[in-house]
Amino acid sequence: MPAPAAVPAVRVDGVAVRFRTKKKDVTALREVSLDIAAGEFVAIVGPSGCGKSTLLKLVAGLLAPSSGDVLLGGERVRGPRRDIGYVFQRAALLDWRSARRNILLQAEMRKIPGERARARADELIRMTGLDGFEDAYPHELSGGMQQRVALCRALLHEPPVLLMDEPFGALDALTREQMNVELNRIWRETGTTVILVTHSIAEAAYLADRVVVMSPRPGAVTEIVDVGLPAERAYAATLASPEFRAATGRIRELLGAVSAHD
Ligand SMILES: Nc1ncnc2c1ncn2[C@@H]1O[C@H](COP(=O)(O)OP(=O)(O)OP(=O)(O)O)[C@@H](O)[C@H]1O
Ligand SMILES: [Mg+2]
Repeated sequence: MPAPAAVPAVRVDGVAVRFRTKKKDVTALREVSLDIAAGEFVAIVGPSGCGKSTLLKLVAGLLAPSSGDVLLGGERVRGPRRDIGYVFQRAALLDWRSARRNILLQAEMRKIPGERARARADELIRMTGLDGFEDAYPHELSGGMQQRVALCRALLHEPPVLLMDEPFGALDALTREQMNVELNRIWRETGTTVILVTHSIAEAAYLADRVVVMSPRPGAVTEIVDVGLPAERAYAATLASPEFRAATGRIRELLGAVSAHD
């Protein structure tokens, strides 16, 4: 019997978003279509204001498209989705809660049984190298560690889709590289579908299977660049590889070409 055609984990189908405010109307996205397979890692790059965060909010169901459809696992998104993970640019941790209790917040919000949640939290703490800091408060953690706590919180309920909006933008270059390596490993270990918005071309090409390059507002997909690297990626070797150079070169060319028309 032939296998049924796989349903994409995420389908963005002819989506446009227009914002109407008192002062003016803004078209944030025009005609965006994108299919993302289950377990795929897709990065989104594009100039500021081109609608990248808007696109993530559509997938999360926090915003409704003006036209077009967004589907998660074949099902139309009609409102905020509880089955996704969302990591913001800033870790957004609660100051009065320890690292572990910030992670467990996700379980409390979703009423996940305590024992199961604690076991999963411990597993994620180990996976992200936070062991020994479970009881530390956010102000006692480095920026990178805080972002790891936010990542654990987003992964606690084992979401099939993880959305990340410039999660490492505030980190120094070295910590950011370490977080990239960890994210690659976590993605492989969890099998989660990831959509990552980033301003870093290197980060996009190191992490993603495909990189969606967007045009300036009103945002549309200019081109989707296939990175063509295996899932497991040693950092230095990957950055020196011809595939990585070709991908970053193409992305840079596309971004340069679009901004030349600005
Ligand atoms: N709630 C809103 N009301 C009105 N306009 C909005 C709203 N949200 C976003 N916009 C507008 O839509 C456009 C796209 O915004 P968005 O935040 O998606 O851009 P972005 O690509 O994430 O930019 P950046 O890289 O700077 O984060 C911008 O012009 C922004 O002003
Ligand atoms: Mg944004």
